Amino acid sequence: MIRRAVCPGSFDPVTHGHLDIIERTARLASEVIVAVGGNVAKNALFTPAERVEMLEAACASWDNVSVLPFSGLLVEFCAAHGVDVISKGVRAGDFAYELQMAQMNRRLTGVETILLPADPQWSFVSSSLVREVATLGGDVFGFLPPAVAKQTAARVNARQQSAGAG
Ligand code: PNS
Repeated sequence: MIRRAVCPGSFDPVTHGHLDIIERTARLASEVIVAVGGNVAKNALFTPAERVEMLEAACASWDNVSVLPFSGLLVEFCAAHGVDVISKGVRAGDFAYELQMAQMNRRLTGVETILLPADPQWSFVSSSLVREVATLGGDVFGFLPPAVAKQTAARVNARQQSAGAG
């Protein structure tokens, strides 16, 4: 029985693949906290606060899901929030690194990790590829909630305008 699970990530931006994992975790656990990591690379598209806001909107219909920012060690976030299980999605290429992080986190505090296989529908989708496609002018509406897709297109445009002006 999973009481409180965490779905951690950078979510820059949140994709349908992330939301599938969050929704499936919300059926396995009484409560889910989506933990939005702040320490992503400098070329992040959205600030942590923007990412939290986008996730809150995208998860609004799931009563047992809440969203919080986090920085530092994930195991410390888990201890501070009474989280018993970390839940993450795995695509074909992710397994070795996810296994390593799951083992490290378990060694650090004993917290367990469950790895959910990505839905094949989303198994090729990642935030970094979505950012690349959007930056090069491709259509990303199929991979993101509509509001997030609009914000992504707008942010990419604004970046390109200011780079052109500078
Ligand atoms: O969406 P991402 O970028 O794949 O998310 C990675 C994230 C934030 C879940 C991972 O980098 C993480 O857990 N960072 C917190 C720092 C930490 O605990 N590092 C040790 C991991 S064993």
